[in-house]
Amino acid sequence: MTQDTFPIRKVHHIRHYVNNARQAAFFYQHTFGFNITGYYGLETGSKDEVGYLLEQGDLKLVFSAPIRPGHPMASKIAEHGDFVQDIAFEVDDVDEAFRTAVERGAEIARTPFSLEDDRGSVRIASIQIYGDTVHSFVNADRYDGHFMPGYRIENEPGDPIGIIDVDHCVGNVELGRMNYWVKWYSDVLGFSNLISFDDQDISTDYTALMSKVMASGNGRVKFPINEPAEGKKKSQIDEFLEFFGGAGVQHVALRTDDIIHTVSRLRARGIQFLSVPRAYYDMLGDRVGDIEEDIDVLADLGILVDRDDEGYLLQIFTKPVTDRPTLFYEIIHRKGATSFGKGNFKALFEAIEREQALRGTL
Ligand code: FE2
Repeated sequence: MTQDTFPIRKVHHIRHYVNNARQAAFFYQHTFGFNITGYYGLETGSKDEVGYLLEQGDLKLVFSAPIRPGHPMASKIAEHGDFVQDIAFEVDDVDEAFRTAVERGAEIARTPFSLEDDRGSVRIASIQIYGDTVHSFVNADRYDGHFMPGYRIENEPGDPIGIIDVDHCVGNVELGRMNYWVKWYSDVLGFSNLISFDDQDISTDYTALMSKVMASGNGRVKFPINEPAEGKKKSQIDEFLEFFGGAGVQHVALRTDDIIHTVSRLRARGIQFLSVPRAYYDMLGDRVGDIEEDIDVLADLGILVDRDDEGYLLQIFTKPVTDRPTLFYEIIHRKGATSFGKGNFKALFEAIEREQALRGTL
């Protein structure tokens, strides 16, 4: 048993920078079914930006937007479109985590500071990762209010669809940079490399990518990192890098314990998913063996299945949720499997390429 050299409890929250936080919050409330539970803005004394806190299961999402011209957030949003800006970790000791990370080579995004109100205080610091993305360290052990100081409590329930938590967050980085970030997660945050895929594993006739999965010491935080590989045409990673303007978060995987329910609800609410060829389901039984779900139901919903040594998993990928072909979501239901659906990559990428072809970006 190796020692965890950088203890991280869990993902504390994921912050998006968006152009219009009110509309983003409404979208995630009415499609993914998140409850809007917090707000900051002019009414709470925030003069330059607004934010909404959304919750479902253990997952907390924050959508922040600038409300004045010339705000530094605005230039980031102009560059990238709406994007995931912060994957924040809950840690025991923010100052210690920050000091250790910086000693090990992390670039400082924000030195430790405290947010305080009459319910206590929350300590926060941030380090830079790829592109304009950061990891914040958060500790709220000395706070008994809601989330963190500065937020007003909101009670605008969504209609939750069984999302339990984040399963993993995937970053796309530039060609040749995957191993840099793999080493960075290993050196700075003590993560280990769970799985690697090379372009042989996951290439199609046209495009290829390389991927490595990094996991925190306790295994609760997982970050696959993708880079493009040479293909006959432009890969989906190249397309992301071009439209995003560099490296960034490509998808967030949300965990459910009833994927048929979750995906049925999302479809009923208008969320669009990548479609897979019907032939995929003809081959499914041979590929994954016995599963509890009815294959016809999975086929109707477009849910993919893969098996590893420990069990199987069901997963599906949305189309991009932003105007740009950048951020999308995965819904994942694990039935023992701890992997990421390698067996689906090829079927999936062919589906993505059909979408790319429609966009003329293949
Ligand atoms: Fe994924």
